[in-house]
Amino acid sequence: MLVAPSILSADFGKLESEIKAICEAGCDFIHIDVMDGHFVPNLTLGPVVVHSVAKAASKPLDIHLMVQNNSFFVELFAPFKPEFLSFHIEEEKHANRLAQKIREYGIKPAIVLNPHTNLDSIEYLLEFVDMVLLMSVNPGFGGQKFIPNVLDKIKNLKDKIELRNPNCLIEVDGGVCDRNIESLKKAGADIVVAGSYIFGGDYKERIESLR
Ligand code: DX5
Ligand code: ZN
Repeated sequence: MLVAPSILSADFGKLESEIKAICEAGCDFIHIDVMDGHFVPNLTLGPVVVHSVAKAASKPLDIHLMVQNNSFFVELFAPFKPEFLSFHIEEEKHANRLAQKIREYGIKPAIVLNPHTNLDSIEYLLEFVDMVLLMSVNPGFGGQKFIPNVLDKIKNLKDKIELRNPNCLIEVDGGVCDRNIESLKKAGADIVVAGSYIFGGDYKERIESLR
């Protein structure tokens, strides 16, 4: 299992040392939650802070956009060359075009679905993205409770992926911890995002417990 700690739960008063510590603890990616106060009722990081994160990080970035006007934010964050740049299907009328635009920057495009969003909405997008991120909480805040019906959704997505793009990865974000990791593995998740769980204890131990 690949592990992407969400820095939303880090101590922003000592961001540089937090990023270095989480990379040394052996994470695979640094998950960055960009919220605009419109698509979700919270406001987080802009390019000034992401610049500092990118400078301190020795692991690839995984940027999760929770915004309106995706195209503008793609242009803003593409210069940081994240491994993945993901946007929500609920907020994008031209998902195929945007995925292509992200790829033209040399970045892997990923599509995100809210907990209630049906898989049918991305069926014909699967061959154009490198990852699908399934939300297991309603986006906007760290520390929320895991919504278990995502397990069923992972299994259904796995079938669609087999058919349309076997290389596409499945990432799960929200409420992930040691109590649900086994079922996530069994269902077929490839990458898990965890914020409050990893930053709420010994980073190395907690990352290991999710492997
Ligand atoms: C929620 C964010 C998540 C969140 C995860 O909107 O996308 O990445 O920070 O935090 P935990 O693991 O605490 O649910
Ligand atoms: Zn996220």
